[in-house]
This record gives sequence, C-alpha cells and structure tokens, in this order.
Amino acid sequence: MQVSDAVAQRKSVRAFSDKPVSSELIKTLLTKSARAPSGGNLQPWRLYVINGDSMNRFQEHLNTPTKGTPESPAYDIYPQSLSEPYRSSRYKVGEDMYALLNIPREDKAGRFKQLKENYKFFGAPAAFFCFVDRQMGPPQWSDLGMFLQTFMLLAQANSLSTCAQEVWATKPRTVSDFVGAPDELMLFCGMAIGYENTDAAINSLVSDRADLDQFATFL
Ligand SMILES: Cc1cc2nc3c(=O)[nH]c(=O)nc-3n(C[C@H](O)[C@H](O)[C@H](O)COP(=O)(O)O)c2cc1C
Repeated sequence: MQVSDAVAQRKSVRAFSDKPVSSELIKTLLTKSARAPSGGNLQPWRLYVINGDSMNRFQEHLNTPTKGTPESPAYDIYPQSLSEPYRSSRYKVGEDMYALLNIPREDKAGRFKQLKENYKFFGAPAAFFCFVDRQMGPPQWSDLGMFLQTFMLLAQANSLSTCAQEVWATKPRTVSDFVGAPDELMLFCGMAIGYENTDAAINSLVSDRADLDQFATFL
C-alpha cells in the first residue's frame, strides 16, 4: 500500500469485529513503528500490549471495584478553557458521531452509554497502552505522536483498524496496576487494535479537516 493511501484510509474505528488479532503481527508492526523519529533518538514510548486472554483479564480487572481515592488524569486531556476554532472542531466531531447513531443531545443516557464503549476498546480484541517517563516534556510527547501515527498507518496497510484513546488517561491507576507499569511511567493513551465492523454506522463517520489556509501560512 502507498503511504498516501494509508494516510487517506486511516480513520478512528469505534466498532470492531471479534476476529482475533495475531500477536506476531502486532509485534511486527510495533517493531517497524519504532523507526518513527524522536528528538535525540530518545524513543520515549513505553508500551504494554493486551490481546485475547489478557484483554479479557483486563476487562475483568476494569469491572473490579477500585479502592482508595477516585482516579484523575495525570495531565489535562484538553485545555480547561478551549478557545475557537478548537472548541467548535471538538464539538462538531462529537455531534457528527452522535447524529450517525441517532443519539440526540437530550439523550444523556444514550450518549453516556456510547462514551462507555471506549472502556471496552469498542470491542477490539487487542490494544496497547502508551506510557511516557514522567521526566519527559512536550517534545517527547510529540515523539509519542510520531510513533502512534506510524503504528496506525502500518496497521492500516495490514488491514487492521485502530482508535487512539486518550480516555484511558482517566484510569491511570487501574491501567498501571494491571500492566505493572513502574511509578515513573505516566499513562498517555490507549490504542484499540482490531478488524473493523463494517456494518456499524459509527464507522462511517468522516471527520472534518480545516482548509490549508486555516492552518498554514505561506510567506
Ligand atoms: C491521541 C489521541 C487520542 C484520542 N482519544 C480518543 C478517545 O479517547 N476516544 C475516541 O473515541 N477517539 C479518540 N481519538 C480519535 C479522534 O477523535 C480522531 O482522531 C479525530 O476525531 C479525527 O478523526 P479520524 O481519526 O477518524 O481521522 C483520539 C485521537 C488521538 C490522536
């Protein structure tokens, strides 16, 4: 597959089939993804992969009531007061998604139910969690993005679908306890991995993109 085709065809898939994903394939894709660039070649991504049986065990772990103080993200998933045009962009993709599912704004329960699908990885049989050492800053976080997109494109080229999921940042202790991540690692996001359920309406969502002149200035 041409890189340009993988870029064009990749999308966030939010309903997966139960077709298993080969761990060998995930290993191969992760190994290749590590060719992603990183400042100073730090390669700051730290991953924990769950697949099949470990995914089932993770789902059980998730449903076990947690003790102690409630969990909160270790970083702000969005700026506390998101300005325009970012605010409208975020709103629009959410509304477009709920429109496809026929879940109106007033149907809070319906929207919450859909939101909770995140915590099932949308039915994906495989996933990974992406962590970064707490000493790292914005430059290394951008390196994580390079790695994640490289993985998503390689997955696309191998008929796999993905959804990056920041929502997992809301459960840092639950995830870290399960995977055994040391304290110095901070959870950034999850990545659902599987085969697309092509019958699911939600997967027909085509997210907008701003026009070139809105984000690039040519001098
Ligand atoms: C780092 C990152 C985290 C994301 N977290 C979530 C998430 O928690 N739940 C979700 O449904 N989509 C999540 N997304 C998907 C975005 O909403 C999606 O990439 C965006 O709307 C553009 O759509 P597309 O990926 O289909 O092109 C995330 C994407 C990225 C890059």
